[in-house]
Amino acid sequence: MSVQRLFPTLVYRGRLKHAGWQSFNNRLLRESLQLRHDDVGGRRWSKENYPGGYTSYNSVHRMHEVSPTFAELQRRISRHVRSFAASLEFDLTQRALTMTDCWVNIMPRQVVHSLHLHPLATLSGTYYVRTPPGCPGLKFEDPRLDRFMAAPPRTGSSRPWVVIPAEAGTLVLFESWLRHEVPPNPVAAERVSISFNYGWF
Ligand code: NI
Repeated sequence: MSVQRLFPTLVYRGRLKHAGWQSFNNRLLRESLQLRHDDVGGRRWSKENYPGGYTSYNSVHRMHEVSPTFAELQRRISRHVRSFAASLEFDLTQRALTMTDCWVNIMPRQVVHSLHLHPLATLSGTYYVRTPPGCPGLKFEDPRLDRFMAAPPRTGSSRPWVVIPAEAGTLVLFESWLRHEVPPNPVAAERVSISFNYGWF
């Protein structure tokens, strides 16, 4: 007999490896906080759509094109994206994956980012800039969940939700159709991350 795993869902985790990543990370942190300070439109949009938190998702969402620091982050992410695309066995001979959007998220205490996916993107991901102890990770939902009819509970690696811990200096990549959320931040310190989309079209 044999049991095969068909149509697996892949999630990638990696780390910025170069020496001096911490000072680079500090630059990202300073620019992220400065952006929140300067971005009046983004703060207004966040008030409506990201209560208690700040995101530049709707205001300054191409940070890799306006900041040399974020452009450097894009360069450092690219080898991870290539590696993940290879794991997914994407055929990219005709067209390359390119970063289309890159934005900042700041989550103070009790802020939540509810379940969502990233429409019109191919790969998405998040780089973690500041992750105070006890802050939430990234929670993924089994994409087959709406088809689980009369299914008993699942345990171990088959459970329908998996949380990938958030750790400064690391990034997580996933296919953009995979639903995910960030549970409420229970700690007083702010959690800071940079999210991005890659497109193939
Ligand atoms: Ni997301």
